[in-house]
Amino acid sequence: MVNVGVMGTGYVGLVHGAVLSSYGFRVTCMDVDEHKIERLNQGISPIYEPGLEELLHEGLEKGTLSFTTSAQQVVQSSDVLFIAVGTPAKEDGSADLSYVWEVVQQIGKYINGYKVIVSKSTMPVGTSRSIALYLDGSLRGTSYRVDVASNPEFLRQGKAVSDSLAPSRVVIGTESEEAKELLKTVYATHLEQDVPFLFTNWESSEMIKYASNSFLAVKISFINELALLSEKVGARIQDIATGMGMDDRISPHFLQAGPGYGGSCFPKDTQAIVDVGRKNGEELYVVRAAIAANDKQKAKMVSKIEEVLSFDGTLKGRTIAIWGLAFKPDTDDIRYAPSYEIIQELLSRGASVKVYCPQGMRLAKQQWTELSSRIQYCDSEAECAQKADAIVLMTEWEQFRTSSWEKIVRTMRGNVFFDMRNMFTEDSVVRQWFQYYPVGSSEYG
Ligand code: UGA
Repeated sequence: MVNVGVMGTGYVGLVHGAVLSSYGFRVTCMDVDEHKIERLNQGISPIYEPGLEELLHEGLEKGTLSFTTSAQQVVQSSDVLFIAVGTPAKEDGSADLSYVWEVVQQIGKYINGYKVIVSKSTMPVGTSRSIALYLDGSLRGTSYRVDVASNPEFLRQGKAVSDSLAPSRVVIGTESEEAKELLKTVYATHLEQDVPFLFTNWESSEMIKYASNSFLAVKISFINELALLSEKVGARIQDIATGMGMDDRISPHFLQAGPGYGGSCFPKDTQAIVDVGRKNGEELYVVRAAIAANDKQKAKMVSKIEEVLSFDGTLKGRTIAIWGLAFKPDTDDIRYAPSYEIIQELLSRGASVKVYCPQGMRLAKQQWTELSSRIQYCDSEAECAQKADAIVLMTEWEQFRTSSWEKIVRTMRGNVFFDMRNMFTEDSVVRQWFQYYPVGSSEYG
């Protein structure tokens, strides 16, 4: 049986480790954060992700899953080592690889036999090659050997477990037959499920990850720009997306207009690929435009709120209820969430802001330190709406669908509803109670 090690217990590492342990592999996950490891060993997940805690409990009970802070232990007990540490964006947009190099050095230090080192984190083109060069150098003069493979992750937050159990594809970048065979054993379940596999070289595999995320970001920015135009010319963006999506070549996915994309991936990865382009003398105009359109989208959403609610050119005296902080539903992640910038802008224009999010408030209170002191956190969407002039729905949590509209509107001071996710364009009940403003259609307000 292949023993698996995972270095880094963020979204990718933790879910990957838990899923592989559910296939019966003995998986050791390592992280430098002692408190996190202590809690993981008790089966407590540091993140909100549907289905994850169940997998953790199962793995811990069966003994197939364990957590440690010891790099030596994870390196020496594993045949295949996944590097799943963060690669956050630096100020200049390039990817910060310092966590990657820390673990690579530890691998070089503790290695005790042949291992396949797999880059699971999103790493700029060229990183796997550099890792291989470094490890070859540090193992020179020893009898130990490694192969390096790039194996990007395509899971979505909020659906991380189901995406990992049934991925759209498995991409493996390596020239080593031995590494390919070992990884085929690790992914035997996916091979049996007929999940498509693509074997390629390091650079293509690394690029596939950035290309996929950037392309999806381009799609979102494209539909968002057309949404703004639709509001001006009397078209409905959802019908446009439906009409476009009927063409298989376009596909209906990722054509939901909204307040702009957020999260820990699209904003970071679009910047990083632009940076890689520049370093190689290629300006990536399309991706740059998607980034600019995303910034514009957030600004336009604020202008729209201001246009409807302001008197005397400011939002002074207005109270705005924000429903949803997380960058998307079914996650507590607030990284690069559009809600952050929109709230900041509303505050700077003089509005009072109340917020409620089913999962995002704990992290918002911790991480938005300055902003948190200027907003009011509420325990429910109904409490959030009380005495507000308007509701701004930022994240499409399912629980918002069943809100008791009549009760809510009676406790409010105004009755304006900005639906940034077009959740209620088909719901006549909401539109009956509110002056309703979706994204990409001007026929309601
Ligand atoms: C994204 C990719 O979808 C995953 O394939 C990838 O593995 C992941 O990044 C990553 O690199 O780790 P994720 O960031 O979890 O996944 O979330 P998405 O569902 O892709 O949504 C990203 C943002 O785009 C959200 O703010 C969402 O609200 C927005 N979005 C998405 C839209 O505004 N419109 C859409 O039609 C789709």
